[in-house]
Amino acid sequence: MQSEKNSFFERYGPWALIAGASEGIGKSFAEQLAARGLNLILLSRNVEALTALAHDLQTRYRTEVQCHAVDLTGDDLESRIDKVIENIDLGLMIYNAGGSSMVADLFLDCPLSDLRRTVRLNCHGPLILAHKIGQHLRQRGHGGIMLISALSAFGGTAYVANYCATKSYELVLAQGLWAELRGYGVDVVGVAVGATITPAAVRAGMGFATQQNTQDSNPLVQAMTSDAVASEALAALSKGPLFIPGEHNRMGVEQLQQIPLETAIEYRSAGTASQLGKQWPVL
Ligand SMILES: NC(=O)c1ccc[n+]([C@@H]2O[C@H](COP(=O)([O-])OP(=O)(O)OC[C@H]3O[C@@H](n4cnc5c(N)ncnc54)[C@H](OP(=O)(O)O)[C@@H]3O)[C@@H](O)[C@H]2O)c1
Repeated sequence: MQSEKNSFFERYGPWALIAGASEGIGKSFAEQLAARGLNLILLSRNVEALTALAHDLQTRYRTEVQCHAVDLTGDDLESRIDKVIENIDLGLMIYNAGGSSMVADLFLDCPLSDLRRTVRLNCHGPLILAHKIGQHLRQRGHGGIMLISALSAFGGTAYVANYCATKSYELVLAQGLWAELRGYGVDVVGVAVGATITPAAVRAGMGFATQQNTQDSNPLVQAMTSDAVASEALAALSKGPLFIPGEHNRMGVEQLQQIPLETAIEYRSAGTASQLGKQWPVL
């Protein structure tokens, strides 16, 4: 166990940056990386939540933690990131933020400004962080990049059409980077996360089936905990280009890939509509 911890630190330490770290899966990554001895740079908009987390991790794991209030959809993202990573020997970047950007309605009924914000968070943000931090990792000759995507990336779905398309960008970008960077000793993985109990998902009113909650939920949607997602994803860091946490999610993707495209889109759309309490079919 200690030797596993040491080799993880040597490969991905001494510093890791988590974009979207104040709660949910990002917070679980922070906890699990601190437990492996890595120093952390945590980004999100809510700096109070980050500061409380940093204090807790520093106390329990004796690691260094820096917090930065950064809006990953901001026009100034590039210059903010330059300042944040200046003089830091980063070994790992996890781009996690993205869930709360989901605008759940018919594409044409969503305000264009909201759809554009989703593109900025799930495409523009990963583009900038992967480009800037990727250069540092390639030069030092080891490290990792993890882009947190979603099962939604595997196909178009009514009511979340734009969100699905942006999540595909992350998975496809990760695959190309995996091919380009593995020769330099840099691991890249795109992680397609399925339903996960996070504060953002709960706030969005997603009805999940869990062991504690079988009523008022969609029994078809089995949710994982954010700790389980983070732990499986970290174990798969060197096994890119694609990883799907949860055996039930891996089986679900396999099954959907074996049926005609139209049927798969219908199936996903009907499930999403039911989860969101929307009408299906649309007309
Ligand atoms: N939960 C699920 O069921 C589920 C399913 C499939 C995929 N995923 C994926 O898993 C990842 C994490 O999802 P999540 O449910 O934990 O929700 P999330 O809304 O992505 O929140 C995660 C973190 O991102 C930060 N964040 C959100 N928008 C930001 C912005 N504009 N700038 C900076 N930080 C921002 C949040 O903090 P602040 O609000 O303080 O900024 C929070 O710390 C996402 O990529 C999501 O697409 C989740």
